[in-house]
Amino acid sequence: MKLDFLNGWTRTHLSTDLGKDLVDREVILMGWALRRRDHGGVIFVDLRDRGGLAQVVFNPEFAPETHRKAHHLRPEWVVAVRGVVRLRPEESINPDLPTGAIEVFAKELRTLNSSEPPPFPLDDETPPTDAVRYRYRYLDLRREGGARKCLLIRHLVAAIVRDFLNKEHFIDVETPFLTVSTPEGARDYLVPSRVNPGQFYALPQSPQIFKQLLMVAGFERYYQIVRCFRDEDLRADRQPEFTQVDMEMSFIEEDTIFDIIERLMARIFSEVLEVNLRIPFPTLPYDEALRRFGLDKPDMRFGMELTDLSDIVKETQFGVFRAAVESGGIVKALKVTDGERLSRKELDDLRDFAAIYGGKGVAYARIKDGGEWQSPIAKFLSDDEREKIVAQVDAKPGDLVLFAADSVQVVNDVLGNLRNSLAQRLGEIPHGENRFVWITEFPMFEYNEDEGRFQSMHHPFTAPRQEDLSLLESDPAKARSRAYDLVLNGSEIGGGSIRIHRSDVQKKVFSALKIGPEEAEEKFGFLLEALRYGAPPHGGIALGFDRLVAIITGSESLRDVIAFPKTQRATCPLTGAPASVTPDQLRELSLKIVKK
Ligand code: AMO
Ligand code: AMP
Repeated sequence: MKLDFLNGWTRTHLSTDLGKDLVDREVILMGWALRRRDHGGVIFVDLRDRGGLAQVVFNPEFAPETHRKAHHLRPEWVVAVRGVVRLRPEESINPDLPTGAIEVFAKELRTLNSSEPPPFPLDDETPPTDAVRYRYRYLDLRREGGARKCLLIRHLVAAIVRDFLNKEHFIDVETPFLTVSTPEGARDYLVPSRVNPGQFYALPQSPQIFKQLLMVAGFERYYQIVRCFRDEDLRADRQPEFTQVDMEMSFIEEDTIFDIIERLMARIFSEVLEVNLRIPFPTLPYDEALRRFGLDKPDMRFGMELTDLSDIVKETQFGVFRAAVESGGIVKALKVTDGERLSRKELDDLRDFAAIYGGKGVAYARIKDGGEWQSPIAKFLSDDEREKIVAQVDAKPGDLVLFAADSVQVVNDVLGNLRNSLAQRLGEIPHGENRFVWITEFPMFEYNEDEGRFQSMHHPFTAPRQEDLSLLESDPAKARSRAYDLVLNGSEIGGGSIRIHRSDVQKKVFSALKIGPEEAEEKFGFLLEALRYGAPPHGGIALGFDRLVAIITGSESLRDVIAFPKTQRATCPLTGAPASVTPDQLRELSLKIVKK
């Protein structure tokens, strides 16, 4: 057997290095044969390498032996070519290709490896289906454009992050993956311990506790581009393992963190997209975000703000509206200018849209010339109520007003998401715009109906606001925290908080969360202890790195910016993970599989 090695050849150039300055020079290229075209005896092969494409010409008169060998080339064979750079004839110049003005006349061809016919063509015109794409991810990534480009940009962004944070005196410290549970609101991935039968490590949902311990250790500025693991229901913007740019700082307050993140974003956007961001970013308190936009991650690229009508309709004859307000809920409206853009059918379909968010329906009114209402609910409302509604939402003839009545949460969810969806559908989102906003003053806790107790909105180490400290005991639902989220174009790309740095305050918060002293000791005793040894005031943030890169690359799904992503069912089509293990492995781990 003859082994197909390079036999002393060294690549001299990447395809993208080839320019007119190299005409008549000899080069050695290496890469994959993308396509082969036979033209009246002359064979053209597009050779792909990490740079891009170069056209290689096999001419029977120029190099007969090599030309004969080129007949055998098939797509995705791995080749090395020694040849001479030539200017292409005028008529065959390809202006779409950076190397479109030149070609390489092959003198010698070496096939370094053959390839089975690929399961899909690797040109860009025919993207494979998702099922095939992830099964053969290495071939999908070999294609130009698409996810390959996203990974290159991801690398660039990571390099900028490191450079920026290093210069700001942050220290990169690695924290354990085999650890105990870190409460970030998701389920843990567990790893059984062989040497401690019946015991489990948890993979970190974030390095939260460790980075706080590093502050107690006196590092003052920590960062890590780190994998996090969360067993939660997956969506386009969630992966079970994902990457955070995780940071923590001592002796700082919110303004320092905001400033560092804003300058970091400005640098990334300037270097990667040549976009100048305006900093500082605006801040929006949580309550106001919900009131105006229905969501705590508002897309600020367009208007369409919500209007509360509860006061106007609280005594109306229209049962749906009155009942909602009477039972502690609200009625809100979303105005759409040029309402004719939505058809009757689309309005009828809003019932299904509302159902996704637990709503029972969305009522509508088309405002006609003279202020007349064309609406199934017009007859239930008095003239006075209709007039007041029109005034409150500032509706003009031609406008469409959409209403939702329900609990505060459901109304905000329905209309907040409808606002996004309609803006998208109606083309109200300005192209190329990037709108950042800090959401601040989050509540400390949210009530968990199922468990009948409060849980942390962020995580239990988040500091309460000074003025709300007494509310921890008297009215926890009203207590606000020093947590903040960074939102970009309606996507939450980061979150963090100023932490509790004193064990007495931490205990108060645990007690509001009904985490008793024993449970606190058992779960977080080591943190409480550390806080007693001179913990400095500190705080931090974690950026969702995949989400950030997805927005920068204009990707719809996180899967486009992750080399080997998981499916919606948290599986890997390429490796087949998760997979069963042998009875021996189970025995060694003292585990038994119980069939449900
Ligand atoms: P948080 O839970 O808000 O905060 O996470 C920070 C950011 O990580 C991203 N993110 C995800 N991205 C992809 N897939 C997921 N499943 C996923 N979950 C979260 C989001 C989010 O804003 N320890 C705290 C940070 C801190 O307080 O400093 C934390 O993890 O973009
Ligand atoms: P119904 O009385 O159920 O026929 O509803 C009358 C109108 O109100 C219909 O257009 C429904 O889509 C709408 N509607 C029903 N429930 C709600 C709700 N909770 N909020 C807003 N509109 C609703």
